[in-house]
Amino acid sequence: MDLLKNKILSEGIALSDNVLKVDKFLNHQIDPELMVEIGKEFHARFKDDKITKVLTLESSGIAPAVMTALNFNVPAVFARKRKSLTFTNDLLSAQVFSYTKQETNMISVSNQFIQPGDNILIIDDFLANGEAAGALISIVEQAEANVAGLGIVIEKSFQSGASILKNRNYRVESLARIKSLTDGTITFAEDTE
Ligand code: G4P
Ligand code: NA
Ligand code: NA
Repeated sequence: MDLLKNKILSEGIALSDNVLKVDKFLNHQIDPELMVEIGKEFHARFKDDKITKVLTLESSGIAPAVMTALNFNVPAVFARKRKSLTFTNDLLSAQVFSYTKQETNMISVSNQFIQPGDNILIIDDFLANGEAAGALISIVEQAEANVAGLGIVIEKSFQSGASILKNRNYRVESLARIKSLTDGTITFAEDTE
């Protein structure tokens, strides 16, 4: 998606070899017009899939997820991050391991919002090692719903998440795929890579 790639090149900062800062339009300040276009693009890619809900993880996934859901005319649901492991039987939960923080956190969705028979499009802002995506998939499957695919705003193709998900036969549609952030330079992967 050229609009997004140009935004990443003009406003993104390669903070290190593996972290891209996009606080100007995605992770802190949000560009609404870009979010509208992102929603249209995910809709175009999954329009034949009979999506019944969009699922994301708070907080940065919410803006692209809502704009996507608007185009499908379905609700957007966001998993909440929970600090306690307290068991409650109306929650679908899964663990997310954070490499940067070296800790495991629970995320949860009320079972009233994902039901058997739902066809779920998972949206997230970043795909790095696939921990958050894997947890969202687990929640959908616990609900006996179907994962139609994953829509990712920015995939870091040099990390393991995209290949793990594709090896598990999930459809991954990433709007920008970053091959490298080495030496402060942002390099995109070709569509064939
Ligand atoms: P890691 O795999 O790179 O170690 O990331 P980790 O799971 O620890 O995720 C920490 C947060 O960082 C996640 O957001 C994730 O989406 C985000 N993230 C991962 N790689 C990048 C990156 O290169 N740039 C930016 N800007 N974010 C990245 P989160 O904690 O769920 O926060 P939020 O959704 O509230 O923003
Ligand atoms: Na984030
Ligand atoms: Na995120």
